[in-house]
Amino acid sequence: RIRGGVDFPKLKNDVFLRACQGQETNHVPVWCMRQAGRYLPEFREFRAGKDFFETCRSPAACCELTLQPLRRFPFDAAIIFSDILVIPQAMGMDVQMVAGKGPTFPEPLKEPEDLLLLQPKVDVNKELGYVFKAITLTRHKLDGKVPLIGFTGAPWTLMAYMIEGGGSTTHSKAKRWLYRHPEASHKLLKMLTDVIVEYLLGQVAAGAQALQVFESHAGCLGPVEFQEFSLPYLRDIARKVKDQLKESGQDVPMIVFAKDGHYGLEDLSQSHYEVVGLDWTIDPRSARERTGGKVSLQGNMDPCALYAPKERISEIVKKMLEGFGTRGYIANLGHGLYPDMDPENVGAFVEAVHTHSRHLNLK
Ligand code: CP3
Repeated sequence: RIRGGVDFPKLKNDVFLRACQGQETNHVPVWCMRQAGRYLPEFREFRAGKDFFETCRSPAACCELTLQPLRRFPFDAAIIFSDILVIPQAMGMDVQMVAGKGPTFPEPLKEPEDLLLLQPKVDVNKELGYVFKAITLTRHKLDGKVPLIGFTGAPWTLMAYMIEGGGSTTHSKAKRWLYRHPEASHKLLKMLTDVIVEYLLGQVAAGAQALQVFESHAGCLGPVEFQEFSLPYLRDIARKVKDQLKESGQDVPMIVFAKDGHYGLEDLSQSHYEVVGLDWTIDPRSARERTGGKVSLQGNMDPCALYAPKERISEIVKKMLEGFGTRGYIANLGHGLYPDMDPENVGAFVEAVHTHSRHLNLK
């Protein structure tokens, strides 16, 4: 029987975990957001005709999809195939993945009284145990090749989906709550935070070796709203998860990725996360200055640079590495891969990171 805990295979490549902790490495580690995704033909073939969230609920399917990109490319980390919207589902909301439209909530939250429709006390093991099973199975099947990253959506990003009912350009329905119903907003953000903390701890118990928190909708907030409705919850999550882990003598690096949250970079670097993920709108050198060497940085090549010819990708990567430096740095894109990207160019990106960073380290 496959179980979590001490019987996991020994980790062979710890470069990603060392970089999270700011330690020296021979090369800069690299992985890509959405590395398990539709740009891979084998992913499209495996997913064909299956419901997205059904796939998420199958540990064997999640394991296979997580491993697919690692068979092609020497990524230094794996990220479990799942979705951030499993949390609203666990809280009692219906979420569908509609082809061509994306995630859709048939009955989004409209007014504060709708909070009464949410599960007041979520049994995370019961509702999200399938994710924990997927993590344990994948950690075994990875056979110690690279560390496995678990993840969650951040409270504000999940709140925005729960009120918008899907993707949005303005997020005006969700932001309306912040300005018109601040108390109910905090109540919802607090409910989400409680579930997220349990969920992340469950992922670590199941075998996750690092955790990334996606605040994908930081960009529609300004600095004032970010201070009130995002940052305190991001901090709370890291503090509570770390306090709990410390009690059992565990140390799992945490990454915060607040997309388009450049205005909050200083604060994010002082929020108990080891790593701050960056989108492509931030200059590497200025990110280093603004975070004062307190954290490792992750990112931030424009995903669209993967449309460039391979030689150009290599030049862009070299500049990026020179900007960030090779210590305390994890190469990634500034956001996820798009479905029309060429896997060959993803391979060129990974190779460029490894080759250039080895050279820079020898200088
Ligand atoms: O490879 C990985 O990065 C791991 C898996 C992963 C998925 N979703 C799989 C997925 C991760 C980390 C996520 C997180 C996620 N999901 C975020 C945060 C990251 C970000 O993009 O900012 C968000 C906002 C979501 C919500 C979501 N799920 C969206 C917006 C979409 C795309 C819808 C579309 O049609 O373009 C999804 C679906 C989804 N999640 C796919 C994948 C591979 C594609 C759909 C499919 O496989 O059929």
